[in-house]
Amino acid sequence: MLVRDDSSAVIVQAPAKLNLFLQVLGKRPDGFHELETLMVAIDHYDTLRFAPRATGEISLTCHDARHRQRPAAEGESLPVQGGPENLAYRAALLLRTAVGRESLGAHIDLEKRIPLAAGLAGGSTDAAATLAGLNRLWKLGLSAAELQDLASRLGSDVPFFLAPSGAAICRGRGERIEPVRWSAPLHCVVVRPRSGLSTARVFQHCRPGAAPHGVGQLVGSLKRGNVGQAARSLHNSLQPAAEHLNAEVTQLREAFSRLPFLGHLMSGSGTSYFGICRHRGEALRLASRLRAQRLGDAFVASSRT
Ligand code: C5P
Repeated sequence: MLVRDDSSAVIVQAPAKLNLFLQVLGKRPDGFHELETLMVAIDHYDTLRFAPRATGEISLTCHDARHRQRPAAEGESLPVQGGPENLAYRAALLLRTAVGRESLGAHIDLEKRIPLAAGLAGGSTDAAATLAGLNRLWKLGLSAAELQDLASRLGSDVPFFLAPSGAAICRGRGERIEPVRWSAPLHCVVVRPRSGLSTARVFQHCRPGAAPHGVGQLVGSLKRGNVGQAARSLHNSLQPAAEHLNAEVTQLREAFSRLPFLGHLMSGSGTSYFGICRHRGEALRLASRLRAQRLGDAFVASSRT
């Protein structure tokens, strides 16, 4: 996450994430599932701009970044809500209440690029960006640990985005973060099909069980710079449930299988699907072949560790 100031506002670039490994270990008494997952931030961002408001009001406007370049095609608009149900808005209210300063106001301008209901944590990264951005704008001085604690109340994926590294093994329901670093960026193609999936619904249909190997094998390969071996160790226990619920995920798996990716997987609870390539040039080439198949929105992204 990149946080910077301009003369009148704080601007945050909020990255999407991919899950390179996700194992569901079991269902907990609180209804959540115990996880072990390797998440990595990618260079595909929402942009949030936080400006002060003297009135003590918090407001949020959302717009789709793609429509800056061209008008929206029918049915293409992101159904992003600018109101109180938006997770970024809820993050602002939570932060203000936590510090007991209800008179603080801000306007949040959210430019969306990350698709929704896609397993890329678009809402979670906006919420994390809001905690970091308003902590700076309002000069609250909350520590990283205090922000992480608030983040975990907003959603399981939110704390990851406040971690000091761009990759982490996340455990518990996703909120216990162990930062991981390796040197080589991963070059990926990501496709978000036309339809999305509800995270809760995918978890309801998943079957906890043993993965063919632990996350350690994958992290070891990444640290040794062996991307080919890492790509063969990708795993997501939520994928069978997502494929059962959404045929577009299966279509994507089949389409990715026919192309020379080093490895491919669904991200998070879906429906986005990604493949790992040898280099960026290959990712650009494979993205255009997938675009020609009209399976959804395809974009090229690299990991930031
Ligand atoms: O934490 P978050 O609000 O993103 O989770 C959305 C839903 O996904 C939860 O309400 C729960 O049904 C499911 N979930 C789960 N176990 C997790 C994370 C999410 O069952 N570790």
